[in-house]
Amino acid sequence: MRVLVVGSGGREHALAWKLAQSPHVERMVCAPGNAGIAAERLARNGTSVECVSIGAEDLPSLLTLALERRIDLTVVGPDHPLALGIVDLFEERGLRIFGPSRAAARLESSKAFAQQFMQKHGVPAAAGGAFDDAAAAKRFAASLGGRCVVKADGLALGKGVLLCASLEEAERAVDRIMVERAFGAAGARVVVQEWLEGVEISLHALCDGEVARVFPASQDHKRALDGDRGPNTGGMGAYSPIPFLTDAELTRVATRILEPFLRGCAAEGIDYHGILYPGIMLTASGPRVLELNARFGDPETQVYLTRLTSDLLELLDASVSGALERARLEWSARASLCVVMASAGYPERYAPGEVIAGLDAAAALPETKVFHAGTALKDGKIVTSGGRVLGVTALGGDLEAARSAAYAAVERIHFEGAQYRKDIGARALRAGA
Ligand code: AMP
Ligand code: GLY
Repeated sequence: MRVLVVGSGGREHALAWKLAQSPHVERMVCAPGNAGIAAERLARNGTSVECVSIGAEDLPSLLTLALERRIDLTVVGPDHPLALGIVDLFEERGLRIFGPSRAAARLESSKAFAQQFMQKHGVPAAAGGAFDDAAAAKRFAASLGGRCVVKADGLALGKGVLLCASLEEAERAVDRIMVERAFGAAGARVVVQEWLEGVEISLHALCDGEVARVFPASQDHKRALDGDRGPNTGGMGAYSPIPFLTDAELTRVATRILEPFLRGCAAEGIDYHGILYPGIMLTASGPRVLELNARFGDPETQVYLTRLTSDLLELLDASVSGALERARLEWSARASLCVVMASAGYPERYAPGEVIAGLDAAAALPETKVFHAGTALKDGKIVTSGGRVLGVTALGGDLEAARSAAYAAVERIHFEGAQYRKDIGARALRAGA
């Protein structure tokens, strides 16, 4: 099969790396890709993955590429092309593509739609409301006692979420999003939610329109700094499985969310194919969904795919064709942990072009995979080209072993201003102690 991967981050490198191992894949193109993706080779015939410089949101050019290269399956990594309707566009032209339609991706691209959907169909969510009027949003925040979370409705790179400790902060947040438009058009509406306390986990379910197959649990680390301090980011590290969550507990949480979710999709005529990734808070009164994502998580994908022992191509193909019920979905018992190395200044401003040293030394370590995110090849050297630069991922017999191995690899890698959290997985290890 000829495969096209859309995107350029660590998630897309993990997808391309795992798909490259499938004996079904005879050719792979990635748009736009990165330096790490370009270095992958297919297990079937040793061919390199070809990176083509077309942006993930340039839908007409991606369509032309897929038609010209006679692509058999397109795999979409990021949220934006899904929200723009890449799946609908490709399917209209008879192309097979993995991911939800534009209508289904609205569950991620509109937090207001997701909030209303979850309330209507009994998906346990944070209590909240959606508003296109600033005064009404502020009144609702006051009814919650002031302490609340204010979110821009649309996609805002994970940044449009403001945690407010008081009514004053909540009113300021509503003004920033709706009046000052700090996150652009994404702020035409807001969702105001109760501020939930608890442990946050990531759930991933692969869906084929009828069936949802649940992945093991994972945990992301959203804040920039150790101890969950600093600004929210796209994700600074992840691990799987979660030692304090038993399989039975995970099944209970997943069932509690996915059963009403699938019933709701059927009721609304949403044919959900692709990954559903709810961000969940485990609270004292049960699991609550904070947000729905319509794609793989980044960096969750890096830890999932290093643990997956089944053929990813077969799984994604089964999601497209509605054949997931019988598909093989098996995981290594080993733990996986990913540490994101980012550019100085991330998630705000950062300067690209720093030379990255030590990648070969890190790659030489056993059970270690360095996924590239913001990297590029310049004058024969691999340089930084984005906020999140690398996802240094390692397997181990347990979380502690995976953690030591990942940090041993991180220590071999250097670039000017590199920043990373030193405490990925640390809280889980303390909780388990
Ligand atoms: P979201 O993009 O909606 O997942 O929000 C980003 C981050 O903000 C989440 O990963 C949580 O850490 C935090 N967050 C979002 N909603 C809530 C909430 N209702 N209560 C507490 N924290 C939240
Ligand atoms: N891990 C955060 C995200 O993918 O949205």
